[in-house]
Amino acid sequence: MGRIRILPDILINQIAAGEVIERPASVVKELVENAIDAGADRIFIEIESGGKSLIRVSDNGCGMSREDALLAIERHATSKLQSEADLFAIHTLGFRGEALPSIASVSRFSLITREPQADVGTEILVEGGRIVSVQDIGAAPGTLVSVNQLFYNTPARRKFMKTPATEMSHIAEIVNTIALGNPGIQFKLSHNGHVIYHFSKAGAVSDRLYEILGPSLSGRLLAFGMEAEAMRLRGWVGEPNLTRPNGRYQFVYVNGRPVRDRLIQRALMDAYSGWLMKGQFPVAVVWLEVPAHTVDVNVHPTKSQVKFIDSHQVYHAVRGIIAKTIGSTKYPREEGHSVFAAATPLPAPSGEPVVPTRWEEMAPAVWEPMERYSAGSSSGGASFPPTQNPLSEMAPAAELVREERSPDGSMISFDELVVIGQLADSYILCQTSTSLVLIDQHAAHERIVYERLSRVSHPEGQYLLIPQTVECSPREADILARLAPRLQSVGLEIEPFGKHTFAVLAVPALIDAAEAIRIVRELIDRLIESENIDTEPTILDACIKVMACHGAIRANQKLSVEDMKALITQLRACDFPARCPHGRPTWIAYGMREIERKFGRLGSMTG
Ligand SMILES: Nc1ncnc2c1ncn2[C@@H]1O[C@H](COP(=O)(O)OP(=O)(O)OP(=O)(O)O)[C@@H](O)[C@H]1O
Ligand SMILES: [Mg+2]
Repeated sequence: MGRIRILPDILINQIAAGEVIERPASVVKELVENAIDAGADRIFIEIESGGKSLIRVSDNGCGMSREDALLAIERHATSKLQSEADLFAIHTLGFRGEALPSIASVSRFSLITREPQADVGTEILVEGGRIVSVQDIGAAPGTLVSVNQLFYNTPARRKFMKTPATEMSHIAEIVNTIALGNPGIQFKLSHNGHVIYHFSKAGAVSDRLYEILGPSLSGRLLAFGMEAEAMRLRGWVGEPNLTRPNGRYQFVYVNGRPVRDRLIQRALMDAYSGWLMKGQFPVAVVWLEVPAHTVDVNVHPTKSQVKFIDSHQVYHAVRGIIAKTIGSTKYPREEGHSVFAAATPLPAPSGEPVVPTRWEEMAPAVWEPMERYSAGSSSGGASFPPTQNPLSEMAPAAELVREERSPDGSMISFDELVVIGQLADSYILCQTSTSLVLIDQHAAHERIVYERLSRVSHPEGQYLLIPQTVECSPREADILARLAPRLQSVGLEIEPFGKHTFAVLAVPALIDAAEAIRIVRELIDRLIESENIDTEPTILDACIKVMACHGAIRANQKLSVEDMKALITQLRACDFPARCPHGRPTWIAYGMREIERKFGRLGSMTG
């Protein structure tokens, strides 16, 4: 007998699920996309335990007959493709007929569905890919899919799921992204019975954008729009100085499909070239429409990437219009290129006639509460205690020194260090009898402040004369609300102030109060990014790192010899002096032998 066999369907579905369903958020994405394809304008998503125990998506779309519902859970069964030609002109989010059977093969799955004109609905229960029951049921028109105990029968995948909070943050991100691209649909997302988001059916994408990004971010976005040949490109980009430490604030849609497209991301980054520092990312919403046959959406298992036939044109269009919008003068205009010649403003994606170019043009009522509160205060304004040189308030060094190698392998003996000067207002130059040592003043001071803040719980705080407010998106507000009580132990006092606004009341005394807002903003970004938002030590450590970075002296800051000596004394007292809290070296050393070799002196006695 031969060794090769055709695999059973259930196994095939589980294998497909391995590619399509990575985590609970992938299930949410597939079910919500199905609801959109079904023409729903109301989609409710209920989650329990980060989607590990339950994901339930209900919609008021076209529903299915019993016959279709049974087909829907079969592999390669779809209503969205009829012929080979359709594959190259896809107008729906789904097209493979793969999502439902994949999900049903790795969960306890139930589908309740009813077509609006039908008298009765159908309920199908599936366990690990096997149909358990099919029956008539009274149901509202539309579809309700419940996915219980995801990966219950695939332990290896179950183990890869993170904490409920982490899985929930991925779900929230997916829902945000889909909701932003579909302002005409009402979305409600709840977790363990609490409503996380409720986006009412909005007329304009700008309204949805405002709900998702919050007033602060939205107020600093610039609208753009252009049409060239068969391509339409619209959206918003942040002012060049509005940056984030990651690309999470970049929403890209191709023909309505949310994608993480590298070509468009590249074009976006290149448009900002010269405006951004390393590690900074712009905020952007890019809405691209091209003829369906010019883009292949069937190139990635989760349908989150696409391939353009004319990628060159797409790249140049995106880069061009965005560079123009942010007023980048560095970008050489490609005169004569059709993209620029044909650029015309367009209405926003939902088709409303006028897009405010600046968000300030929106209804004044929306702005009122913030303005009333922040009147008279400005971040880092004169009402703060005067900024001190953070070095001068530091205690003298303790005796303990733990020798550690710098990442470049060098060790230094602090006793021997003699300061010779400062290089580029950023590095302290020192010599020992055997080496030339450069100390990165920011990295070194960051290490010092970090260890000082870490050593004590509840470090001495300073109350801000005028509390500073931070506006958040709903998701950020959710995270911050949960964290605020715990941040007190690291000297940061934050309390809710309005729906999505928080007031920063106090920061540790070691930190410049003018940095308060920047610290909280960066902290939010870090936490959202982090995979472990649930573990206490990680959160507090991340918080201390952010504060240390903001509390440390900067590069490009002139230091007196006394300051430099004080810094070295304090660095010496650190437990891990050789690295900053992010792991970068605080010093690098050039040995005399290396220097002599470079000068060609080694081995020759001639002077
Ligand atoms: N919420 C829904 N309302 C109405 N019909 C639905 C719904 N969800 C799924 N269907 C039907 O079931 C079929 C199978 O869904 P499934 O998600 O498995 O495949 P698909 O959407 O066609 O393709 P893909 O695998 O790319 O998502 C769909 O083509 C659609 O006809
Ligand atoms: Mg689908």
